[in-house]
Amino acid sequence: MINIASPVIEEEERRAVNEVIESGMLAQGPKVAELEENWAKYCGVKHALAVNSGTAAIHCALYAAGVGEGDEVITTPYSFIATINPILMLGARPVLVDIDEETFNIDVSKIEAAITDKTKAIIPVDLYGQPCDWKELREIADKHELKIIEDACQAIGAEYDGVKTGALGDFGCFSLYATKNIMCGEGGVVTTNSDDAAAAIRSFRQHGMTSSYEYADLGYNYRMSDLHGAIAVEQLKKVEDFTNRRQHNANMLNEALAGIEEIVLPKIASNRNHVYHQYTILLDKSIRRDDFIAKLREKGVGAGVYYPKPLHVYPHISKLGYKVGDFPVAEDLAARVVSLPVHPKVTDADIEVIANAIKEAVND
Ligand SMILES: Cc1ncc(COP(=O)(O)O)c(C=O)c1O
Repeated sequence: MINIASPVIEEEERRAVNEVIESGMLAQGPKVAELEENWAKYCGVKHALAVNSGTAAIHCALYAAGVGEGDEVITTPYSFIATINPILMLGARPVLVDIDEETFNIDVSKIEAAITDKTKAIIPVDLYGQPCDWKELREIADKHELKIIEDACQAIGAEYDGVKTGALGDFGCFSLYATKNIMCGEGGVVTTNSDDAAAAIRSFRQHGMTSSYEYADLGYNYRMSDLHGAIAVEQLKKVEDFTNRRQHNANMLNEALAGIEEIVLPKIASNRNHVYHQYTILLDKSIRRDDFIAKLREKGVGAGVYYPKPLHVYPHISKLGYKVGDFPVAEDLAARVVSLPVHPKVTDADIEVIANAIKEAVND
């Protein structure tokens, strides 16, 4: 089976984990510090703070942005649920804005209409590894004095106009979950250029501690262990190689699948470098997705659906006043997306298998 995701774990990762085990110091320590330094350099920002998930990264960024009870945060209805849950965890309200049908990202032209005097921040998501329209987004945020918290959990290494994710917003949030472009099992990173925000995040990830057993505010245990840090340090060294391999596979699929009328291939908007966390096609309405995926599976191709439903239909979000029909683009695309394997272990021969399986599945 050509799986939809498969982490690359090599000798370097094994050796690095062993070193930590041998050192006897497994909690947050030198490996995490090394990761933070290298991550900040890679993204081109002043600070990178490691935490133990992408969800924690978003929670920390929202806290450092000053989001709290009664505030509103504008975001997309088409993402993983972890984009929205941290907004709720701080007592704030997610205000959803429909997406662009070509990029799957928040439709920036609809954001201004959603801004109220309670709006504190915007969370754009670089879905599947493609940044959203940052020029327009930055203009809107500056005009209304809003913070931008980039959910770059799927987009390490992606760029808008030559600027890397993590350096585009006031905060960048990354996930190192096992299936991400680089990973350490579970982990996350927040980036920022603000010294004050970095201090707030350092405290928030450690129970609100400001100095030894002094707690200035409510905080959490969001620390990353050095075991995880050690894997992440090695993975970050390979990020460009992994990205090149994903992009190579995506380009091969673009060529092999061109001209098939029943599917729409991924589009890259101008000024963007897409890192293909997912290579996502859209099926024509005439194709039953479940059958299509089952046929691919029979031919050894593991396809995925990210995500089968938009977020506003889940009970804890819909009870905020949302209903089916509110975000027609997100609802339509959620019913038709299929992601295909492009991870670094996928070979040219695999691409041929995937392309042939798709051609047969649409003609069946
Ligand atoms: C867009 C997006 N946001 C947030 C997250 C949360 O990351 P984690 O699973 O590391 O908490 C993920 C990944 O799972 C994601 O894909």
